[in-house]
Amino acid sequence: RELAVVVGTRPEIIKMAPVIRAAEGRFDLHLVHTGQHYDDEMSGAFFESLDLPRPDDNLEIGSGSQAEQTASGLVGVEEMLVEREPAAVLALGDTNAVLSTALAASKLSTKFGHVEAGLRSFDRTMPEEVNRVVADHVADFSFAPTAKAIEHLEDEGVTAGVYETGNTIVDACRDHAPLAAERSSVLADLGIAGHDYVAATIHRASNTDDPERLRAIMDALDDASAPVVLPAHPRTTNVLDEMGYEPSGSLELVEPLDYLDFLQLLNNARVAVTDSGGIQEEASILEVPCLTVRPNTERPETVDAGVNELVEPDELGRRLETLLTDDAAREAMTGHPDLYGDGSAGEHIVDVLHTRTGGE
Ligand code: UD1
Ligand code: UDP
Repeated sequence: RELAVVVGTRPEIIKMAPVIRAAEGRFDLHLVHTGQHYDDEMSGAFFESLDLPRPDDNLEIGSGSQAEQTASGLVGVEEMLVEREPAAVLALGDTNAVLSTALAASKLSTKFGHVEAGLRSFDRTMPEEVNRVVADHVADFSFAPTAKAIEHLEDEGVTAGVYETGNTIVDACRDHAPLAAERSSVLADLGIAGHDYVAATIHRASNTDDPERLRAIMDALDDASAPVVLPAHPRTTNVLDEMGYEPSGSLELVEPLDYLDFLQLLNNARVAVTDSGGIQEEASILEVPCLTVRPNTERPETVDAGVNELVEPDELGRRLETLLTDDAAREAMTGHPDLYGDGSAGEHIVDVLHTRTGGE
């Protein structure tokens, strides 16, 4: 039996890795990369550091408008599904690759499994929210990471084929953090070994597409009383270059890091500042307090547990300083590494698929 798996961007490669590993030997795998992320440091490098099989197809959709990316992915995934006739196709999360896969599969009546189902920010201005909602409503199998995600699905009438599996980020993070500690020299390379520092990433369209908002975030980081390392997503680098932005204080902008280097950077940070979805989860798993520069989050479990806070750019500097200088305040934002499961999500998902597509 063949299982098709579609990925398109950095987080999908990382989070799908535990599913791909668990599926090896139980399914014939057909791995498709839509090519939404194409730079080696946003894509190819992860196949190496996660020891994944190379994609069988790359649709090379590249960058473009929401419609361009979704439409090219839709045509490419449809062709693949018609040719391969897999027992099921999987996609993960909320990117345009997920929307393309969900639409192509449902129109062909190919079984579609949505990994990381049921997340909601309730903010329809985010392209990701639209992608999540559509994918969840056409999925045959919804692999929900948490009880809250299941509640969201139930509230929208999605009750069939729903499984609570935990999030595969836990599997990935737990497998790779010890390897990262052993192999990565990133802290020495950046000259921050043994120091208190901040690990930061910013790439969300709502932050990068408004240059004044982006400048306010960067200025708050640049004014911090400890080093701030920010591996910049190409989207962010493009805008900062256009603005001619040059940090002059604590902020160090570096190229996107390999997964092991990033995990090592995050795991040893005093505080994380981000607008990433996956990094909110990883920070909770690694027990690093997280400040999320967004008005809302589809990872509310972290906020409810007190390990993640939503901040606006004008409050970022103050909150960051508190966590850099007050040990008790920092300590209070740790201690919930299990919000997203126990690290067996990949196995659980593959077990369900194996049974539901005719296995024993
Ligand atoms: C996409 C996802 C977002 C996810 C993020 C992960 C959608 C709608 N958005 O956003 O949910 O959090 O990936 O990182 O699917 N670029 C490069 N090289 C690359 C990739 C991108 O230079 O390899 C630049 C291009 O200028 C491109 C811009 O980054 O226009 C944005 O890339 P895009 O794939 O459209 O969206 P992301 O911001 O990466
Ligand atoms: N990540 C990485 N290198 C970096 C920045 C992030 O390997 O320089 C990893 C991080 O560990 C997490 C994932 O990329 O697993 C998050 O991806 P991103 O923030 O691009 O997307 P999102 O999760 O917001 O969709």
